[in-house]
Amino acid sequence: MSLLSITGVALSSNDESNNALFSWFKKTKTGIDPVESQRYIEECGSCHFPYQPGLLPATSWETITNNLDDHFGENAELSESDLNTLRNFLLNNAAGRSNYGLPNKIMAAQGDRPLPLRITEMRYFLHEHSELPQRMVQDNPKVKSFSNCDSCHQSAKQGLYDEHDVTIPGFGHWDD
Ligand code: HEC
Ligand code: HEC
Repeated sequence: MSLLSITGVALSSNDESNNALFSWFKKTKTGIDPVESQRYIEECGSCHFPYQPGLLPATSWETITNNLDDHFGENAELSESDLNTLRNFLLNNAAGRSNYGLPNKIMAAQGDRPLPLRITEMRYFLHEHSELPQRMVQDNPKVKSFSNCDSCHQSAKQGLYDEHDVTIPGFGHWDD
């Protein structure tokens, strides 16, 4: 039986089982495979942090890579061959396709809710970051947006997002 079918049941019921699910999350290791593709880091890491493919489901990556000429208001178009290479890389390693730790948690938390294009709009992300006040993020000139993962997670490039390893610029080490 897959992890998704077990947790899917827990999520669809009530708040109590949601809390049980998220407290189970706390006990499992938080990490994601680092990006090995230099091509991806060059092309998709030139404007922002090169997000690991396991942070979003395949459907979201598919929509993103099909619309790179209008990418969140920017033109991020690629050559045909780069597009094919990077799309395959994203889809093969997407959450829901790579069966381990953090990607599984992200999918389980989403349940059967709609899949957004932003990592920062996934339910798992929103839940994990709900305690952060605006003055530490949007109003913080050294962070500006939740999309800048590596502003606070200094080891984000290595795929390490542990909550005990977070430093918020201007505010210091995060101590929950
Ligand atoms: C020309 C600049 C540019 C390039 C190149 C680029 N992006 Fe983006 N991307 C943006 C901007 C701008 C945003 C919106 C950022 C914001 O709202 O803070 C964004 C947002 C995103 C987000 C959503 C982040 C969130 O908030 O959760 C994802 C996912 C993403 N890009 C993936 C990619 C991928 C994959 C590639 C390579 C194919 C890529 N980007 C290349 C400019 C770019
Ligand atoms: C403003 C700083 C900040 C930014 C930007 C940020 N995070 Fe976080 N993140 C945190 C903090 C603080 C926590 C721990 C929250 C807590 O203890 O409740 C956290 C927790 C997490 C966790 C859970 C870690 C665990 O041990 O359970 C993950 C995964 C994560 N962040 C991923 C990301 C990703 C991916 C991005 C970018 C799309 C991002 N974060 C952007 C501050 C940030």
